[in-house]
Amino acid sequence: MIDTTLDWQERYALGIPAVDDAHLKLIRMINHLVICIVEGTDRASISASLGDILSATSAHFALEEKIMRDSHYDRYFEHKADHDRLLDQLRDMMDDYGVHGRLEPAQLVRVLDEWFSEHIRSHDARLHRLVELPGSPAA
Ligand SMILES: [Fe+2]
Ligand SMILES: [Fe+2]
Repeated sequence: MIDTTLDWQERYALGIPAVDDAHLKLIRMINHLVICIVEGTDRASISASLGDILSATSAHFALEEKIMRDSHYDRYFEHKADHDRLLDQLRDMMDDYGVHGRLEPAQLVRVLDEWFSEHIRSHDARLHRLVELPGSPAA
């Protein structure tokens, strides 16, 4: 039984479907990676999975940052700095895994859970409360 996956419902939902859906996809990818590590999946697949998470996360952040720039959002730099912090952590984990083949699921989950819990409930909640998503009615 795996008890180290990220629990979506309670911790990350903002109640805005398009935003929750984007975050849910990232959380699912991370949980898939955790299961692969725990099950002893081969190293190439785990590296590929980490790469997929980094790309999907970067793409999600780039979209949010575009929304912030387009709307002249007042806390753009603070929000982007927090995105960059997580991307740096993910890159460090990838590098460490590439060099040492080491990735501790409990540590991965702890880092990501702390980051997602804090970031979504503070930065993303504020952004999406103040700025309407392109193509969506106000939440
Ligand atoms: Fe987000
Ligand atoms: Fe964000």
